[in-house]
Amino acid sequence: MDYKKIREDFPILSREVYGKPLVYLDNAATTQKPRCVVDAISDEYYNANANVHRGVHFLSQQATSMHEAARKTVCTFVGASNTNEIVFTRGTTESINLLASSLSKISNKNEVVVSVMEHHSNIVPWQLNGFKVKPFVDLNDFESLISDKTAIVSVAHVSNVLGIQNPIKDIIRIAHERGIPVMLDAAQSVPHMKVDVKELDCDFLAFSGHKVYGPTGIGVFYGKEALLDKLPPYQGGGEMIDHVSFSKTTFNALPYKFEAGTPDYIGSHALAVALDYISSLGMSSISDYESQLTQYAIQQLQSVEGLKTYGLGNNVENRCSVVSFNLFNEGTLIHHLDVGTLLDRLGIAVRTGHHCAEPLMHYLNIEGTVRASFSFYNTTDEVDMLVAGLQRIRKMF
Ligand code: ALA
Repeated sequence: MDYKKIREDFPILSREVYGKPLVYLDNAATTQKPRCVVDAISDEYYNANANVHRGVHFLSQQATSMHEAARKTVCTFVGASNTNEIVFTRGTTESINLLASSLSKISNKNEVVVSVMEHHSNIVPWQLNGFKVKPFVDLNDFESLISDKTAIVSVAHVSNVLGIQNPIKDIIRIAHERGIPVMLDAAQSVPHMKVDVKELDCDFLAFSGHKVYGPTGIGVFYGKEALLDKLPPYQGGGEMIDHVSFSKTTFNALPYKFEAGTPDYIGSHALAVALDYISSLGMSSISDYESQLTQYAIQQLQSVEGLKTYGLGNNVENRCSVVSFNLFNEGTLIHHLDVGTLLDRLGIAVRTGHHCAEPLMHYLNIEGTVRASFSFYNTTDEVDMLVAGLQRIRKMF
């Protein structure tokens, strides 16, 4: 990959903040958008905007074709069997809410097994829908938590806080041996590695457009067709119906059964453009580069006196584009908010806090961390700027 050239595809990366070059290391929160994605949005609004699946006129047909072509792109990108398995949602959060709500209506089991590293969006939807959430730390724990009350296992593929991968192949194998389906929150993996639903054999999977170089407000919910068929609709309205009367309504076929209301057809098209863009770079090249960059960051951060990085158990090395840490001065914590605010003044954008994973913070016995998260457009020079910034901050305290 030619990284200098790649950065030119992202106009925002050449802006300054506080008179300093922007160093954007908050990619786990959202990624920046390549020009082709922004252009796709304005092109469609300028030239092909009309509501989809609702008009016989030319523009509606064109917008519908673009929306359904986008579904096909997503289907190919994640290796699904066919487009009936691809539901467009607002993002990972809505995808998990959809599953939790629909499953609660048909399941006679009320427990969901999750990992200790989950984002709130893979905890709260289950609680809201009457499930008891049972967290595991390692595979031994995991096996002991599974019981005849387990409706589903729902786990992050990669932690948004630690960048660590859950052992999902083992998790899926063990769950399937007991006849339990597995939902994968792939929000933090799909942007960084090849994710193939057939190879993983996950039953459901979710990811967000805005974390994978696409627009905000669009996301994907994948499910094996036979399982989606059994789930009742999530929301009611247009598109998801077959026939409606005041006494009875029948529902549309997959995937439309789960897509109530006008879908974000501009977003789906722009998401497909984003997926084509990263596919053209090559997911394995992206993985290789980002993993080298992350390892470089972990090594360089070790040179900052008083810096502690976080992992789980012994697993502190193998990260997927994310490093979480805190800075201490002679054993006293420098609050993550102070570190983040001072880094910001140096032009360096990181996320601070509990990262929507309060239970993980409780497990680690901390209030929060500073999180640097990387993309293929970041460079070792930017890592050096982060390290220099942290060294400077530490001297200030
Ligand atoms: N879930 C996103 C993050 O980890 C917002 O920052």
